[in-house]
Amino acid sequence: MNIKSYQPRKLSIPVTELEQASFCQLDDNLRSKTLEEEFKSGVKWQKVPNRYLKMSPEEIDFEINRMKSIIGSKLYILGHHYQREEVIKFADTTGDSFKLSLEASREKEAQFIVFCGVHFMAETADILTSKDQKVILPNMAAGCSMADMAPSEDVEDAWEFVSSVSDNYVPITYMNSTAAIKSLCGENGGLVCTSSNADKAFTKYLESDKKIFFFPDQHLGRNTALSLGINLDEIKVWNPFKLNGGLSEIEIKSAKVLVWQGHCSVHTRFNVDQIEMAKNDKNAKIIVHPECTNEVVSNSDYVGSTEYIIDVVTNSKSGSVWGIGTEINLVKRLASENPDKDIFCLDPIVCPCATMYRIHPAYLLWVLDGIGAGLVINQVEVDFETRINSKVALDRMLEL
Ligand code: 13P
Ligand code: SF4
Repeated sequence: MNIKSYQPRKLSIPVTELEQASFCQLDDNLRSKTLEEEFKSGVKWQKVPNRYLKMSPEEIDFEINRMKSIIGSKLYILGHHYQREEVIKFADTTGDSFKLSLEASREKEAQFIVFCGVHFMAETADILTSKDQKVILPNMAAGCSMADMAPSEDVEDAWEFVSSVSDNYVPITYMNSTAAIKSLCGENGGLVCTSSNADKAFTKYLESDKKIFFFPDQHLGRNTALSLGINLDEIKVWNPFKLNGGLSEIEIKSAKVLVWQGHCSVHTRFNVDQIEMAKNDKNAKIIVHPECTNEVVSNSDYVGSTEYIIDVVTNSKSGSVWGIGTEINLVKRLASENPDKDIFCLDPIVCPCATMYRIHPAYLLWVLDGIGAGLVINQVEVDFETRINSKVALDRMLEL
């Protein structure tokens, strides 16, 4: 096949926090509408040819299945658990961000890896796959508002300052960050982690008396450090809007963990009132993701990554009641796959992650049509320089 490449003029589109709430609704029905209707939500979408705007869900399903069978084993579709039903049903493998990066690193056959997830996940897959494999993100506007809270240049400046104050710091970045930040971590003896291995990553350095500078999720950083016995007053927040992060040299020298002031707009919607209501009204067990605030985490019965939540809830006793603090598409899927249990989202407002939600099935069809026509649409490619050290940081994570 003679492959050409198509890229939009602007590759990644930053997401504002206001946009994050654009898909929130009171109605419980999360079924996809035509792309033309979804364009009215007020968020930025990547432009697509007009023919995809009015296609009905049935037409899109039929066409995606047709393209999948035409492209065959050259295609591998990865789907994150937060994807909507109409997209995840086409995934060859589903998983949380750790499992999907592992799957990408093990996939040797497929020429085209279509990532139904967000931009930093597709970048990671590109770093972990071979040069000949092309990683495609169906909609380039599918970023992550948390990752956008840590622009690479700001993190580089902050790291330079902190390491000039104390040479005992190691940089660790959450997977939800740019490849440039992963590269900085690889170059400076640090690594990447996800919510399923943050404790192992922190332990690796804390055991040898190192200090940690963690980007960009303050909540995962704080929850992990506290769970490992670090005191709250030994954890300091780096505020990127203040000179030197708003910290004095003494504070940087005396802290054990610095956390970047970033957060996930989806997981910080959960609060203690919701937990109390679920416990009082339904006697529910509470399970939440570690991107939630520490107040929420410490009032919950279980805390863990997306894959952990699935595992605990799926393997719980028939008849059990679960109030869950994570993304709504996953909660709804767990509820429908476990009809013998009472499973509900802690937040009464139905609020999908607005960036994950931008992978509408019409975008998936668009990139598959491209492959069929010999055109790679929306390839995510990390430059050679950045690739080297970010691979070092990712390999250190995979070895944990
Ligand atoms: P995990 O998939 O690692 O649980 O992370 C959740 C998330 O917010 C992905 O962006
Ligand atoms: Fe980013 Fe939060 Fe959405 Fe994950 S759930 S992609 S951290 S905004």
